Amino acid sequence: MQKGKSDFYLRRANIDDMMLFFDWANEKTVRQNSFSTDIINFDNHKAWFEKSLQNKDRYIYVLMKDDLPLGQIRFDVRDEEAEIAYSIDKSYRNKGFGKIIISLGIEQIVKDCNRVQTIVAKVKGINEYSKKCFLRNGFEEYRKIFDRDYEIVEYRNKVKNKSIG
Ligand SMILES: CC(C)(COP(=O)(O)OP(=O)(O)OC[C@H]1O[C@@H](n2cnc3c(N)ncnc32)[C@H](O)[C@@H]1OP(=O)(O)O)[C@@H](O)C(=O)NCCC(=O)NCCS
Repeated sequence: MQKGKSDFYLRRANIDDMMLFFDWANEKTVRQNSFSTDIINFDNHKAWFEKSLQNKDRYIYVLMKDDLPLGQIRFDVRDEEAEIAYSIDKSYRNKGFGKIIISLGIEQIVKDCNRVQTIVAKVKGINEYSKKCFLRNGFEEYRKIFDRDYEIVEYRNKVKNKSIG
């Protein structure tokens, strides 16, 4: 059953989330749907996570319901664009949370980073679940990119007009 968005909130990720993000990143489907499918070792993750938390152009949030973390969403901002990466904990998939984290994430990033006008998402062509999550959130297909091994669909969603930005 899909829950109302008001039951959920986002919080900024912090250093105490190191292991949570490590486990999420190495979950089988997460690796399969990522552009680099190799298992991530802990030292690399630790270095990446610490650097990410200090990166002023990277915004990482955790989707929460009460005290329970359900998933994560990351925005990498470049000029007026923010590119999404996200996942939902394996135990809580297919309950509508993927759509909710994108919706709340967009609301949050436009508040936290005023210059963002367009949200960009790149999804492997085989990732039907994720494609639906973007389409249901008003994203439109922008182009298809053909990598050596797989097809990537790029979606875009213009969330702010230049005139009011
Ligand atoms: C992609 C992901 C975040 C989606 O999260 P989720 O909570 O399962 O998503 P939702 O429940 O909100 O929506 C899933 C959609 O896929 C649909 N779906 C379920 N099973 C499906 C299937 N076998 N084939 C196609 N669509 C399916 C659901 O019905 C829903 O669509 P709807 O809006 O028409 O009902 C989650 O699967 C995940 O973490 N995957 C691993 C990491 C990943 O792929 N991240 C995204 C990289 S771009």
